[in-house]
Amino acid sequence: MHRYFGGKTALAAAFLATAGMAQAADVEVLHWWTSGGEASALNVLKEDLSGQDIGWQDMPVAGGGGTQAMTVLRARVTSGNPPTAVQMLGFDITDWAKEGALANLNDIAEEGGWNEVVPAALQKFSTYEGQWVAAPVNVHSTNWVWANKAIMDELGLEEPQTWDEFVAALQAAKDAGYVALAHGGQAWQEATFFDGVVLAVGGPEFYQASMIDLDAEALGSDQMKEVFDRMATLRGFVDDNFSGRDWNLATAMVINKEAAFQLMGDWAKGEFLNAGKVPGEDFLCFRFPGSQDQVTFNSDQFAMFSQGEGVSDEQAALANAIMSPEFQIAFNKVKGSVPARTDLDASELDACGQRAYEDFKAADASGNLLGSMGHGHANPASVKNAMYDVITAHFNGEFDSATAVEELVTAVDISK
Ligand code: GAL
Repeated sequence: MHRYFGGKTALAAAFLATAGMAQAADVEVLHWWTSGGEASALNVLKEDLSGQDIGWQDMPVAGGGGTQAMTVLRARVTSGNPPTAVQMLGFDITDWAKEGALANLNDIAEEGGWNEVVPAALQKFSTYEGQWVAAPVNVHSTNWVWANKAIMDELGLEEPQTWDEFVAALQAAKDAGYVALAHGGQAWQEATFFDGVVLAVGGPEFYQASMIDLDAEALGSDQMKEVFDRMATLRGFVDDNFSGRDWNLATAMVINKEAAFQLMGDWAKGEFLNAGKVPGEDFLCFRFPGSQDQVTFNSDQFAMFSQGEGVSDEQAALANAIMSPEFQIAFNKVKGSVPARTDLDASELDACGQRAYEDFKAADASGNLLGSMGHGHANPASVKNAMYDVITAHFNGEFDSATAVEELVTAVDISK
């Protein structure tokens, strides 16, 4: 149902467009899960709903990290035609909740006991002013390295424990004629590197101070210069065709033994699994060297747009399906992420997944579950995008590291 409400405010238009639609039998879901592994995971959700006779209208917007999806969403809401449910990350959820656009899921959350099983670090984004506004489907983390095991074996490489060991492994792969680091030159992918590098250089306190608290001293520190120096070193290990490459094509280079390593969130595991590869046998997962036992997380959540008369039956069914223990295991086994609830038996997850679930729960228990800057969990989109610009400009050689540090301090100051 597409209508145009010229002259009305976006919110009023959104309300009018959806009022009375509560009995529609379908959910329309806007998301950016278009790679092979992502699509397989989404099918788990589609099938769950179809088992409940709820139809699925797909609204895919390609583009890893969701930047394009958020632009399309804004256009849809502005034209008075918001989707039923939207995949969203971190502060984007908060921004829409502030605009009053999201439905209150409190009744469903209470019935499902969400408060007790979803950690506070996630609830920070799933709730707004005491109201549940989104259902978290998973927890990903960004500080991972994915490695082709055959290449590592061939070159006699062990899992690197330190930055220096990692650089030596990259160099060995390069010398042997492989692409050392599979990468796609898109701002969000470089920002994904940055999460791990900041954590490895300065530990959780430095990550918290610079990426989350936006402390000017930490942002302008010698440690931050070291971060940019390491980013420049990593830049030296990517191939010549990296510009604009999609992340899943970079993963495919590791899968196909063209490249040795990729720095990427654990959605990359979904690609390996989708290609029939087995963790520990065909590929390895390990934390970015120097960030062992630490977690920079992002959680995909489904926010429900207000239907006027409260939450529709379809929205309730979708939210309930997402939060059910069986679904959380079934979905996350395919997606590469781990459940958003901390009360589940993880024995069905593979070795990487079990490790990730343990890391997640340990980080949560110790108060060290750090929001990923690269994926919108450290600061709102305005600050995130300002950081992206500096990181990418430096990665592409526009600034040296000292200038990048100065640019970062200024960009954050202006955007926050
Ligand atoms: C992340 C999202 C993941 C995955 C990835 C690449 O932001 O949380 O689920 O989709 O982007 O598209």
